[in-house]
Amino acid sequence: MFRSEGSEPVKGAMLQLTIEAILDFAGERRGHFRLIESEVFSHDAYGTPRELFVAFFAVIADCLRDVLGEQWSAEIDAAWHKLLRDIEAIVLQRKHLVDERP
Ligand code: HEM
Repeated sequence: MFRSEGSEPVKGAMLQLTIEAILDFAGERRGHFRLIESEVFSHDAYGTPRELFVAFFAVIADCLRDVLGEQWSAEIDAAWHKLLRDIEAIVLQRKHLVDERP
């Protein structure tokens, strides 16, 4: 998953912060979700493709679906699809600035 490897603590922290950002984005939007926007730019510098960054959120959704099994309802599925679309819109915005770099 992490093509350019961070250390184990960094990977753990990224997962934790990502989950916190998702919960905030889907809920109160108190500010943790802003991490998604800011990390997009620092990850451009790490060389993490934006598409892979988006995929990370989809992997989390897939894992939850596996864990929930039969309890994964159509309503939950629809809510996650919307959330993933919204996150993708944020992550891919202004992507041309990266693509057009010399
Ligand atoms: C597959 C997708 C991702 C890859 C390949 C990736 C890769 C990396 C790499 C290489 C580093 C630097 C590691 C180091 O300094 O040792 C890093 C740091 C970090 N990543 Fe990710 N990352 C991904 C997704 C995410 C996501 C979705 C978030 C949160 C929204 C996130 C949050 C962070 C944070 C907080 C750091 C610590 C340094 C900083 O503030 O930039 N990462 N990541």
